[in-house]
Formats: sequence, structure tokens, C-alpha cells
Amino acid sequence: MQSNKQLLEKIDRFKGELDKRGQILASVYGISQLLNRPANRDKILKSILHESQKIFGFTRCVILLINKEDNKLEAKYCLGYTLEEEERAFAHPLRINTQLCRETIVAKTGRTIYIRDIENETDLTEFDRKMEKFWKRVSTIAVPLKINREIIGVLEGDRRQKMVLSKSDIKLLTSFANQASIILEIARLYYQIAAERNIAENILESAPNGILAIDQYKRIGSINRKAEEIIRMKRQRVLGKPIADIFRHDIVDMFNDSIDNHNTVKYLEVVRDKKDGRTEVYGVSSSRLKSPLNDGAGAIITLQDLTEIKQTEEMLRRVDNLSSLGRMSASIAHEIRNPLASINFNVQLLSKKMVYDQEMQRISNNILEGIDRINMIIKLTLDFSKNVSPSMTYGYINDIIEESITLIDQQLKSQKIEVKRDLCNSIPQLLFDPHQLRNAFVNILLNAAEATPRGGAIRISSRIEQSTMFGGTRSLLLSIKDNGIGIPQENLKKIFDPFFTTKQEGTGLGLSIVHKILEQHNVLIDVKSRESKGTNFCMIFPLKGNGMQHAEI
Ligand SMILES: Nc1ncnc2c1ncn2[C@@H]1O[C@H](COP(=O)(O)OP(=O)(O)O)[C@@H](O)[C@H]1O
Ligand SMILES: [Mg+2]
Repeated sequence: MQSNKQLLEKIDRFKGELDKRGQILASVYGISQLLNRPANRDKILKSILHESQKIFGFTRCVILLINKEDNKLEAKYCLGYTLEEEERAFAHPLRINTQLCRETIVAKTGRTIYIRDIENETDLTEFDRKMEKFWKRVSTIAVPLKINREIIGVLEGDRRQKMVLSKSDIKLLTSFANQASIILEIARLYYQIAAERNIAENILESAPNGILAIDQYKRIGSINRKAEEIIRMKRQRVLGKPIADIFRHDIVDMFNDSIDNHNTVKYLEVVRDKKDGRTEVYGVSSSRLKSPLNDGAGAIITLQDLTEIKQTEEMLRRVDNLSSLGRMSASIAHEIRNPLASINFNVQLLSKKMVYDQEMQRISNNILEGIDRINMIIKLTLDFSKNVSPSMTYGYINDIIEESITLIDQQLKSQKIEVKRDLCNSIPQLLFDPHQLRNAFVNILLNAAEATPRGGAIRISSRIEQSTMFGGTRSLLLSIKDNGIGIPQENLKKIFDPFFTTKQEGTGLGLSIVHKILEQHNVLIDVKSRESKGTNFCMIFPLKGNGMQHAEI
């Protein structure tokens, strides 16, 4: 029979145990609450240690986690340590296979080791004894941190005085450690997933193409930075919106087709005008998004900036045209030159002989004028097809612009055309052939003047900007814009071709010469024109590169 006293003691013990269990439950609940917020793992480790210190009265405690790659036990967080102890714990991870001590034994076997009085303990390893010289523990307990059967680390606590832990205390600590391990593992998985998602997001954000994801209800689910840039809308404005609210009809039709009819890849080219008069070209493609869960899961839209590719293509086409036409015209010019010289000579001879016949005189003068004109064209053709390499010197481009305007001053005055300038005055010295560049500007300006009605205006403007051409280097943008008759769309592609002219007296060689000169200077030229509104010739000079360069001085 148990005495009342014994019974009371037993009740007290149970009560104490129940309290502790309650405390542990509250702690585990508190720690697991951290998972609801984006708490970092350090916060969780810290909270586990605080709670175990509070419940089991440890003086010092530490969490050591197994680093599987190195097979080491590494201190991750400690409580109650001095600076020196902390340094020691962190600087010396324990080698699980070779350093035999209580911690590594727990990590290997998953057994809890409790030592009430280290000094009188017989069951210590060599290494344990060596360590105790530093740690000076009195009593200590090390419990494994386990998930299912896998041991992920060790929770260790010690007390300065002798620690009397009952069997049930040890059991409670072990179960607390198990709960803590699960929370730690969830946190680890959470961060792993978050990190993986971050990587995916980073890749998407820094992709050179615009990418949008569309859900099965045809709403925009995600959009990257480049896509925001291309569609000129911030993500807040487009996320969750139906595609029909954001994109043009033809593009929406394409997406619908891709999603509804399960067509995989569709492609469309979109041309768009920029504010500065240049044109941009985008390739829009959509492909069905395949999800492992359900197979009708929307689409991915890719937007690719093709402006540069298109311009290069166009330039190559022109260069190709120019060089073959150039070669052909050069040989024709050569063939014509000699017979023409003899025709010229003979007509002059005839006109001298027929000096009294006025009618014949008029005819022969006409012939001579015609011959002069043919000669002029031949000279231009030969100039154009001759491969004169430019002779580059450093100079200020604004000076060349002013000189070119002066050269056509007569024509401008007679047509009462005003030249307006909006020139950047901080352009560094550039490397160019002044004669050739002047020639190019004069040709463009003359065309502008010829296209502009009396009293019209030509605007020359320039500015420096980070161009997407030439790999994003700084470029000088120069535009020569008139408010003249404009160029019909169907002619735009031809104006750089030799002999293409719409003028009665035109040679059609001006712009081919311009093109050749600019090409030799590594300058891109783009034309934008609206009939009866005007024309804008826009040139992009790279400020660093092959042709034009910053002066080093
Ligand atoms: N500023 C402009 N406005 C309208 N049309 C232009 C302009 N510049 C060039 N063009 C068109 O391009 C054609 C080719 O120009 P170009 O090669 O200089 O030859 P040309 O001036 O001898 O005709 C012109 O005939 C004209 O139709
Ligand atoms: Mg011309």
C-alpha cells in the first residue's frame, strides 16, 4: 500500500510532467507558427534553443547539423555561450567518422546520451576528455534531431550544476527534438523551393525576350521585365487582365487559335512606329503551355525585338544591290564614255560647220547639253562605284553639318526654306572623312529641299543616347527631317537603289552614294516618311566602334 505522502508525491510528479508536456506543446506550436511567416531558418533555430533552454533549464545549448557532403557535424546556433566558446564551436566542426565523442556518436547512432556528472563518468572517449578540458561541463545531454529515420543533427544542452533529468524528461526532450526537426526540415524545404523559384524568376526577368504566361481563361498570369518594356505597360496594369484588353486584334486571334485549337507555335511580325520617327519590329509568338497536371493550361507568349535584325537584313540587301548594280553600272559607264567622247567631238564639229543654220544649231546645242548630262551621270556612277577608302580624321560633326548647309544655301534661299537646328553641343570629336560626310549630308539636304514646297522647313536635330544597336554602346542620333511631299510606301525600299529616281532631272544616285559613305563609316541609316507630311532620315553614329570613334584625347 502506498502512503498518502507517496501518492501525493506521485501526483506532484505527474503534475510536473503534465506541465512540461503542456509547455512543450506550446513551444512546438509557437515555433511552428514561425513557418507561416517568411521566417529564416536562423530564427527557427534560435527559437528551438530558447524553448529547450526554458523547459529543461540548460546553461548552454547548441544545435549541430550534419553536413552530408563533408560528413561533418557543424554548429548552427548556440545559446549561453561566451564569445570564445562560440568561436570555438563554429570554427571546429566535428568529423563524424574520425572524431569519436558524444556528439558524433549521437549523430551516427541516433541514441540520446545523458551524462549526469562528467567528472565521475567512466564512459567517455579520449576525444571527449580532451574537449571537456575546454568546455568544463558538469552534466550534459545530447539528443538526435531526426526526420523519420534520418538523423539530421544533434541538440545538445548542459548545466553547470548536476542535471537531474528523469526518464520522462529525457523522453520529453527527445520528442521535442523530433518535432523541432520536422519544423527545421519544413523550413529547409521552404527555402529550397523559394530559392529555386527565385532562380527561375531571375532567369525569366533577365531574359532578352519578353515572356508572358497566359492561363486557360486567357488572362495574363505573369510577365517579365522585357515584356513590360515592349508592351510599354507596367505589370500591375496587365496581371490578371484578359489578353483582349492588352493586345491588338490580330495578336489576340493568334493567341486564341493557339489556345483553343491546341496549335503549338504561332508567329506574327508586328511593326510599330516610335516617337522619334524610327520603326521597331517585333516577332510575337505563342506556344501552348503544357502543364503536367492538366493539359489545357494556357499559353506562353514570347516577344522578340527584331528591329536590329531587320535593319541589318535591310542594310545587307541594299549593300548587295548596290555592289552588283554598282559593278554593272561602272562597266556600262566605261563602255559609254568612249563613244560619247567621239559623239561629242563630232557634234561640235558639225555645229561649227552648220553655223548659219539656226535650227540645226539649236538641235546640236540640245545634243551637247544631253551629252553633258550623260557625262555628269557617268562621272557620278564611276565615283560611286570606285572603291575610294575614306580618309579619316578627327573632327566635330556639327561643323560638317554647318558646311553642308552653306553649300546648298543658294537653293534654300531661292525656295525660302528655313533650316531649324536642334543640335547637341557636347558631341565629342569623331573620326570621319570630312569630304565624304559633307557629300552625304549635302545629298540628303538637297533631296529634302527638292521635296519641300516654298516656305517649308528642314529640321536637323541630334542627341546622344544609349542605342540598342551596336550592343548598347552610346550613339549619336542625327535626324534630317523635312515637311515635304514624302515618299510613298512602295518606294521606301527603293530609294537607296542606284538610278532610282522620281524626278525628271534626277540621277537616282544621291542616296546610293549616301548609303555607301555611311556604310564605310559604320553608320546606320533609317528612313521614315509619310506622304504629303514629310520625310525623316535618321542616322545612328556609334560613339565607340569600328568606323567612328571617340577621340582618345
Ligand atoms: N526628302 C525626300 N523627300 C521625298 N522624297 C525623297 C526624299 N529623299 C529622297 N527621296 C526620293 O528618293 C529618290 C532617290 O533620291 P536620290 O538617290 O537622291 O536621287 P535623285 O535625287 O537624283 O532622284 C528621289 O527621287 C525621291 O523620290
Ligand atoms: Mg538626290
